[in-house]
Amino acid sequence: MHGPTADLFADAALQQPPGREQIGEESYVLRGYALPWIDRLLPELRRVLAQSPFRQMVTPGGFTMSAALSSCGALGWTTDSAGYRYTPLDPRSQQPWPTMPDALHEFATRAATEAGFPDFSPDACLINRYVPGAKMSLHQDKNERSYTAPVVSVSLGLPAIFLFGGHERSDKTQKISLFHGDVVVWGGVDRLRFHGVMPIKEGVHPIMGPQRINLTFRTAG
Ligand code: SIN
Ligand code: FE2
Repeated sequence: MHGPTADLFADAALQQPPGREQIGEESYVLRGYALPWIDRLLPELRRVLAQSPFRQMVTPGGFTMSAALSSCGALGWTTDSAGYRYTPLDPRSQQPWPTMPDALHEFATRAATEAGFPDFSPDACLINRYVPGAKMSLHQDKNERSYTAPVVSVSLGLPAIFLFGGHERSDKTQKISLFHGDVVVWGGVDRLRFHGVMPIKEGVHPIMGPQRINLTFRTAG
């Protein structure tokens, strides 16, 4: 066996057992944490995406991001020539972003609690879609009004290599394989650590198809 299917099996063989892996002072990977939630999350996600479909956004520097984005919640993260920011309206429709479904909110608060952040109440859920080849360059999440709340990030579909760096762009990065259902939470002293995603490898996920979808929950406003 060779090609994308073989890669997927090889990745599945590397998949980590359920449990909590500490990756920073206040950062954890919760392996498979989202798996029992998938049947509740996916229909809600479909509803959100019907209202605010994925679109590719342009950075202030004029580059089109390889990941396609959407959002739900009171605030959605946006980039265009005017800069990075959160907006209450979907710029595509000029209507409010879809409300954050209860199941997503509940899921995110439980995951945060599991990682030591019991007071999390997200008002923004950024939805990133990566097709094979798409990536996310190293960056800090710093468009939020306050950094007291953590970031809760859920991986669905194709596996990814998540880069978890330090407080300087040039700091060494940990390479963390993330699989369908894995959750990463970083907050507290780790809240502003650089992070990114290496280019997604070719493949077809049995549930999600030829893509990776990542949800990141934040308190933005
Ligand atoms: C992000 O940093 O916004 C996305 C991270 C990921 O896709 O895992
Ligand atoms: Fe980020």
